[in-house]
Amino acid sequence: MTDIRIFPIFNQSVPGIWEAFLRIQSAAMRYVYNYRMTVLDHDIARQLLFQDWWHVSYNFAFGATDGMNMIGFIQGACQNNIAQIQNLYVMPKFMSNHVGGRLLNCAERVGALNAKKIELVSLAKAEGFYEHNGYNRVMAGSNSFVKKIRTAPRCDVLPVFYPTPSIVRACRRIATDNDQEFNTRAIKENRLPMFVYMNIESNISAFSVAGDEKNDGVPQVCVNAPRQIADIIQKRLVRELGYSR
Ligand SMILES: CC(C)(COP(=O)(O)OP(=O)(O)OC[C@H]1O[C@@H](n2cnc3c(N)ncnc32)[C@H](O)[C@@H]1OP(=O)(O)O)[C@@H](O)C(=O)NCCC(=O)NCCS
Repeated sequence: MTDIRIFPIFNQSVPGIWEAFLRIQSAAMRYVYNYRMTVLDHDIARQLLFQDWWHVSYNFAFGATDGMNMIGFIQGACQNNIAQIQNLYVMPKFMSNHVGGRLLNCAERVGALNAKKIELVSLAKAEGFYEHNGYNRVMAGSNSFVKKIRTAPRCDVLPVFYPTPSIVRACRRIATDNDQEFNTRAIKENRLPMFVYMNIESNISAFSVAGDEKNDGVPQVCVNAPRQIADIIQKRLVRELGYSR
């Protein structure tokens, strides 16, 4: 199996993203549930993705690629300290290769930054997968699952799909210490790719934001860390920007 890379999708409304999601969902539903999605199913699925994207500010998604095509994705939202997973599908040819598990892990890392628990409603044949990954049924017989987030992220670079007030406060402080400004508006309006570095105390100590046309595409990177590790963190933040979409 070729190398599979997971990447955050900051702007789902870019042409082709939802089409790729639906292509994967369609193939997975046919293979696992022997269900052929109808035109109406496609319309409803597209409408739900669209509504989530425009009406829920903290909407997140990750894709998996084999280098050519998107072969899996996860999509969800964070609201009121709860992360919800709404979609998780892997192309049949790539199932049982830990793609679904890796996508779930990425969503959980995002959840750890913004939520206290993760919730989802499972399709019938995925229940074992979620139980295997530490999810519990909310009650016997239910297909709703929950997982508490116990550990805060440490020494990790995480994508920020929406700059929440606490993230903005932390990044403003770091930007000021670096004699720079932190422009939240541009990030929100253009859905600019953004990453934060969580230090050993689980505090944000660095961030990077992709450049836009206003600054000729030059990314902003600000780090508050001892010089020995600042370079490493900076390189990591820049590299992650290169992988994002
Ligand atoms: C469910 C799905 C996303 C899992 O993705 P995947 O890439 O095939 O799963 P992975 O290979 O990452 O599995 C991760 C682990 O879960 C285990 N696992 C996977 N499916 C399982 C199941 N049904 N029951 C128990 N364990 C399961 C794997 O054995 C693996 O264990 P390991 O880490 O100890 O080796 C994929 O099969 C799929 O797209 N299914 C159809 C659509 C669907 O039902 N989606 C869920 C919507 S809520």
